[in-house]
Amino acid sequence: MSRVFPDTLKIRDQFPIFRERPDLIFLDSASTTQKLGKAIDVITSFYTKENTNVGRSLSTLDVIAQRKIARIREQASVHIGAPTPESIFFSFGASHSMRGVTNMFFEQLLQDGDEILVSPSDHQSYVQPWYEVAAVYAALGKRVKIVELIVSKNGQIDWADLKSKVTARTRLVNLTHIHNVYGNASEILYNSEKIAFLKSRNIIIQVDGAQSLSKAVIDVEGMGIDVLHTSGHKAFAAQGVGVVFLRPTLFSNPGRLFEGTPHVAGIYSLGAFFDFAAEIGMAQIEAVVEEVTKYTYEGMRSIPSVVFTTGIAQCGCNSGNGILSFTLSGASSVEVGQYLNQHTIYVRSGTHCNFDPINIGDSVRVSVHAYTSKQDIDTYLDVLHTFSNAL
Ligand SMILES: Cc1ncc(COP(=O)(O)O)c(C=O)c1O
Repeated sequence: MSRVFPDTLKIRDQFPIFRERPDLIFLDSASTTQKLGKAIDVITSFYTKENTNVGRSLSTLDVIAQRKIARIREQASVHIGAPTPESIFFSFGASHSMRGVTNMFFEQLLQDGDEILVSPSDHQSYVQPWYEVAAVYAALGKRVKIVELIVSKNGQIDWADLKSKVTARTRLVNLTHIHNVYGNASEILYNSEKIAFLKSRNIIIQVDGAQSLSKAVIDVEGMGIDVLHTSGHKAFAAQGVGVVFLRPTLFSNPGRLFEGTPHVAGIYSLGAFFDFAAEIGMAQIEAVVEEVTKYTYEGMRSIPSVVFTTGIAQCGCNSGNGILSFTLSGASSVEVGQYLNQHTIYVRSGTHCNFDPINIGDSVRVSVHAYTSKQDIDTYLDVLHTFSNAL
C-alpha cells in the first residue's frame, strides 16, 4: 500500500456499497455520505425484530427503544462536547431543525428591532428561513433586521466587517462550521478572542454543522456554540435524521420542535456512526480526510485548465475538509459532471444549494471522505486529464 490513505482500506471495508459496486467512484460525499454496514444492520434489525413506536406505551419493545435512544443521546453529547444529554435533540435533518429553530427564535426570543447576522453564501436551508420568518413578522408589526455579512476571497467571514455591523441590538450570528462549497472551517469558531467578543455582546452563536459532524472535532463548549444543527446522512447514517444541540435555558419547551414519532431507525444508525467515530477517533478521521483532500488537490493542480474557486487553493489552510470546487476553462461545470458520470465518477455540478448562487457561482464540486481510496482519486484524475486535454 502507498504512503497516502493510511487507514482508508480498514475504513472502506466497513461500507458495503464499495463491495457491492466495485465500479463506483463516489466523489459526492458532501451531498450525502455512503452508509456504514453497521448503520444498515441496526436499521434492518429494528424493523425486523424490534419495531415499535417510542414513548407511547410501557411495552417491552418501547422500553428497549427508549433505552437505546437515551444511550445514543448520551453518545451524541459526548461526540460534540455538549454539557448534558438533555441538551441534545433528534431532528429530521439539518434543514428541518434550522427552520424550526428559526421559528422558535421569533416566537420566544426576538424583540422588535433586533438584528441577526447572516452570511448569504451559506446554505439556503440556513439563510432562507430568516428572510421568510422576518417577512411574516414584519407583516405582524414586529421588525427583525437581517444583516448580511461579507465573505472574503479566502471563504472566511470578514471579521472587521462583522465587528462593524455589531450593534446593541445584535442578538444572533449564524456561522457555518465547514462550508459546503468552500470546504474551509470557520476560523471564528477556533478563535477564542472572537468568540469572547461575541459572548461579551450577548450574541447567540448558531452553527450549521451539517458538513462537520463526521469530518471534524466539534466542541460545543470550547467553541461557545449555543445552537448546533447537524445532518445524519452526511455522517454515514440514515437520511432524514439529525442531531441538534440547544443550549439549556435558551428556549422553553424546545422538545415541542421535535415532537411526533421520531425516526427511531435513523437514530439507531446515528448510534452506529458514534460507535465508529469513537473506535477510529475523530482526530484520526480528520487526518485521513485531510490526507485524501491534499492528494486530490495536488493531483488537480497539475491539470492546467483547472481553476479552483474559493477554498483550499485560496485559504492557505491545510485541509479543505474533503471539499474541492473548481471550474475547467473551456467547459461548463455540467459538461464536466456529465463526462465524469459516463465513467461512473459521481461529483456535483451547479451552485450547490447556496442562498446566493451569484456569489457562490457555478462550479464542479469534488467531495471525498475517509472511505475514499487512492484508486478512486487516481482514476478520477486520469479521466479529468483526458477530458481537459481534449478541450
Ligand atoms: C452546509 C449545509 N447545511 C445544511 C444542509 C442541509 O442538510 P439536510 O440534508 O440534513 O437537510 C446541507 C446539505 O446539503 C449542507 O451542506
